[in-house]
Amino acid sequence: MTLLTNIDKYKVRQAFAQSATTYDDFAYLQRTVAAELLRRSGLPKLHGKVVDLGCGTGYLTQLLSELGGFSHLWGLDIAPAMLSMAIKRELASVSYLCADLEQLPIQSNSIDWLFSSLALQWCLDLPATLREYQRVLRPGGQLCFATFGEATLQELKQAWRAVDRAPHVNAFYAEADLLELLRTGGWQNITLSKQDYQCQYGSVHSLLRELKGLGAQHVLQGRQSQLMGKARWKTMLDAYPKLDETGKIIATYEVIWVQATVVK
Ligand SMILES: C[S@@+](CC[C@H](N)C(=O)[O-])C[C@H]1O[C@@H](n2cnc3c(N)ncnc32)[C@H](O)[C@@H]1O
Repeated sequence: MTLLTNIDKYKVRQAFAQSATTYDDFAYLQRTVAAELLRRSGLPKLHGKVVDLGCGTGYLTQLLSELGGFSHLWGLDIAPAMLSMAIKRELASVSYLCADLEQLPIQSNSIDWLFSSLALQWCLDLPATLREYQRVLRPGGQLCFATFGEATLQELKQAWRAVDRAPHVNAFYAEADLLELLRTGGWQNITLSKQDYQCQYGSVHSLLRELKGLGAQHVLQGRQSQLMGKARWKTMLDAYPKLDETGKIIATYEVIWVQATVVK
């Protein structure tokens, strides 16, 4: 199963570039998810060559560098401005690659570990991307990633349904579909786990501000109020379920962690 998406990579790259200096101020959940990725992968004993795909400002790259044991670690991201923030961490034995995580400028059978935290949801073609990861991993190499599941931003999706049936929020893979994708792709020793995080915001606007600060506004398909028309925008804001009369809201983020081995 391949999810159809209208993600525009140029815009994704631009949005993350613009949010590079604000990203860490908003990225509480992202830090938690990255730390959980290592914990749920059993705090792996790293060896050989390791890549952090979609490394952003380098939080997971730093956690990986602190685990040690590898011969080399690369942080890879499509947005140079995010990489500039990661470089400021001055991590030893770490280099950075500005590249697309769907087409790696990396030799076949050369990598021992691939990690990625909350970046693969930006793939245009996840099945093809997973095949690319099989290409670069050595036999027995490990893929460990965290991504968003289908319940992510379900309240926002529901609020938009009061306006129309168009997809205003990106679609995310369901856990069962991810499992199927990995199984049919020939991955072995597959483990998946998931958890819902419910984050509270003062208003729908604060949620949207945070998504923008994280560079994730393109999770929202179509664009903001000017293109939507004010009336439709207000209908969505009114329909978003509120916790109380002050307008506080909850947004759900379903996180799925995956580990799998490549067999060749
Ligand atoms: C939500 S951030 C996560 C960053 C980091 N892994 C973390 O956990 O804080 C997503 C990152 O993926 C990068 N990204 C998105 N699409 C990408 C692509 N096609 N290739 C490489 N990086 C990509 C973005 O530039 C951004 O830095």
